[in-house]
Amino acid sequence: MAMLIGVPKETAAGEKRVATVPDVVEKLRKLGFAVAVESGAGDAANFADDTYCAAGAEVVASAAELFAKADIVFKVRPPSADEVALLREGTVLIGFVWPAQNPELMQALAGRHATVLAIDCLPRQLSRAQKMDALTSMAGISGYRAIIEAANAFGRYFNGQVTAAGKIPPAKVFIAGAGVAGLAAIGTAANLGAIVRANDTRAEVADQVVSLGGEFVKVDYEEEGSGGGGYAKVMSEGFQAAQRAMYAEQARDADIIVTTALIPGKPAPKLISAEMVRSMKPGSVIVDMAAEQGGNCELTEPGQAVVRHGVTIIGYTDLASRLAKQSSTLYATNLLRLAEELCKTKDGLVDVNMDDDAIRGLTVIKAGEITWPAPPPKLPAVPPKPKAAAVPPPKAHGHGPGEPMSVQGLATVFGLGALAFALVGLYAPASFLAHFTVFVLACFVGYMVIWNVTPALHTPLMSVTNAISSIIAIGALIQIAPPLSGAGSDRPSGLILALAVLALALTAINMFGGFAVTRRMLAMFRK
Ligand code: NAI
Repeated sequence: MAMLIGVPKETAAGEKRVATVPDVVEKLRKLGFAVAVESGAGDAANFADDTYCAAGAEVVASAAELFAKADIVFKVRPPSADEVALLREGTVLIGFVWPAQNPELMQALAGRHATVLAIDCLPRQLSRAQKMDALTSMAGISGYRAIIEAANAFGRYFNGQVTAAGKIPPAKVFIAGAGVAGLAAIGTAANLGAIVRANDTRAEVADQVVSLGGEFVKVDYEEEGSGGGGYAKVMSEGFQAAQRAMYAEQARDADIIVTTALIPGKPAPKLISAEMVRSMKPGSVIVDMAAEQGGNCELTEPGQAVVRHGVTIIGYTDLASRLAKQSSTLYATNLLRLAEELCKTKDGLVDVNMDDDAIRGLTVIKAGEITWPAPPPKLPAVPPKPKAAAVPPPKAHGHGPGEPMSVQGLATVFGLGALAFALVGLYAPASFLAHFTVFVLACFVGYMVIWNVTPALHTPLMSVTNAISSIIAIGALIQIAPPLSGAGSDRPSGLILALAVLALALTAINMFGGFAVTRRMLAMFRK
């Protein structure tokens, strides 16, 4: 019999999100599941009971009734003690669990012989897992909302303006930590017209900061900041001192600071001292997105907005929930993708396949047995970077992309080319020489074009050249076209005509497909 997915109303104080939305209910039903929603579960996110009913869900009056019939429970926040008590033996619970922070909850859930899939334990480095990555969806929304909260508390425009009443300078925003949330904050602040600067211990994010309209500010200290899996590590004392000096300078200059710095399994690094807050201009704003993990600012009060030394310090821990409709929709879609992975047979039955790296990572309790932490997934998504050589390697006799050839090298190549051309011209037939000239020029132009293109743009370039290669179409058209009057009466045979039409059809796919792919790829680089 098909399993029933139950979605209770979230019980944590102030939580407005809901674990599924009406649009997703329909898709879950297509996978073969039945869906039941507790009455009022979507109210705070603007999803009324009737909209769930219209999508085919059953609306039940109470949490007790819901837990009693659910085979699978979709939740946002970790379950409360009351909810754990309501869980039936063998139920599959899916939601945020944070097993490292909640050992007692883990024991209680194991005691109920539940199977628990913690969405926060997803191995995010697997590219296949990205569609289920609720941490990323929630961080993106929180980063956006952090800027909106800052704008609300800030007494000026973000963008610079020249008005009859005078010139208004743009606001200066500094973002500490450019992970998912930080990057979302950078993009939002830059779109509002602010001057945005950002810093992260992982130097590899510098390009992403720039691509979103920010400026990356480096700490004047050489140290690798990556702690594996795309996350940060605790930095050395020397680095921290250099970082403090840089942050102190930024604090004096910035109007708004948004901090997002986190290190997995560690308290949030303290980056903004009380002294730095004091040095900020009155009316400035700090949004501390790390408030729940202890805060990046010394003066943050988790869950509250306070004013210290004339600076508003916002420590809200429910930023994603403040955009409840958006965050519920994205979260519901993440869980739908997970449901698809768990029910590949589309018969409404889940299979928690522990041989699948993504499912293994998520499964923190299997039928009452604690299986957390999972071993790291077998395949790293990004190949490890080769260690930088201590001594620069000796210069090879070639030249790489972007490296200009030496004058002597160029002269030799051109000299040899001219000699070869002269020889061919002396001995080859005239028709060959014409084709050969076009060939050599094509090679030259191709080389010059491709060598100067940034490697990141090679794929769109390839797809466009793919389209150009469809010059075959001209040959096919010549074959299909009726012979010109006076050019002889021999029409191509039926077979040749058929082949020409086929070539034209195939090459059209190449042509239009090439341009379509190029358009899509270039769109990814546009803001
Ligand atoms: P997070 O929320 O744990 O950390 C936020 C940011 O704070 C990180 O960028 C981190 O480097 C930075 N940070 C930590 N300590 C700092 C310090 N002392 N000073 C300045 N910055 C500091 O991380 P988040 O945003 O959840 O993910 C981080 C990264 O993980 C992403 O940027 C991405 O590169 C990677 N990731 C990769 C995925 C994939 O491979 N599919 C999926 C999701 C994330």
